[in-house]
Amino acid sequence: MKKFLMALLTLMMMALTGCGGSERGATDVEMKTGDAQPIPVETAQAAPKSKILVAYFSHTGENYQVGWIEKGNTAIVADMIASKVGADEFEIVPVNPYPTNYKECTEVAKAELQSNARPEYAGSIDLSGYDVIFLGYPIWWSDLPPIVYTFLENNNFNGKTIIPFCTSAGDYMTGQEGSIPSIAKGSMLKEGLGLTGKDAQENPESIRPKVEQWLKALGY
Ligand SMILES: Cc1cc2nc3c(=O)[nH]c(=O)nc-3n(C[C@H](O)[C@H](O)[C@H](O)COP(=O)(O)O)c2cc1C
Repeated sequence: MKKFLMALLTLMMMALTGCGGSERGATDVEMKTGDAQPIPVETAQAAPKSKILVAYFSHTGENYQVGWIEKGNTAIVADMIASKVGADEFEIVPVNPYPTNYKECTEVAKAELQSNARPEYAGSIDLSGYDVIFLGYPIWWSDLPPIVYTFLENNNFNGKTIIPFCTSAGDYMTGQEGSIPSIAKGSMLKEGLGLTGKDAQENPESIRPKVEQWLKALGY
């Protein structure tokens, strides 16, 4: 009788704690199976991720409201965007440098705009691996600098998304960026951002929230 009661008690405890041999074994197998199935590396890498480029033109030397600068206002914003979204960068560097004197530079730029000039830039970039191009420039005479038009005309933007950003005396875009898709044929233009060059140069942290808010709205 005592043996019978002990056996009955053992059976009841096993049932209560769920320690029946076969059930516990099944649970273990399930857990191990779950643990043993990491996402294959290939699958993880296959997730679509657009490759992003930040292409920009920026002028150094004497500039409006900031005196002599070693790094252009737009270049500062370009770096901020590139590091936030993990983009490559391409600087549009003129083959014939613009005057470092501000007034002379404005005169050269005005003459270029009036004559529809397309100044050459150094080097080239293969855009085929990029889906999204952030395009940065300073406002020159309420327009894009002519060398940025050269960049737009020289490359194939078909199927690419272009996101413009600029710096100027104020935090605005002039509307000229609306003409980008008619030059960069087949491209899609997204909401751009205009920033005050002086703020970018002298207090970049003051513009960071605005840049990040804009990027967030674009999905970055
Ligand atoms: C040739 C030239 C023309 C400019 N024209 C304008 C303009 O029309 N409107 C404006 O707000 N700022 C104008 N600016 C000021 C620049 O847009 C501003 O200083 C900008 O932040 C410079 O950027 P960067 O250092 O990247 O070249 C002009 C500057 C230059 C050199």
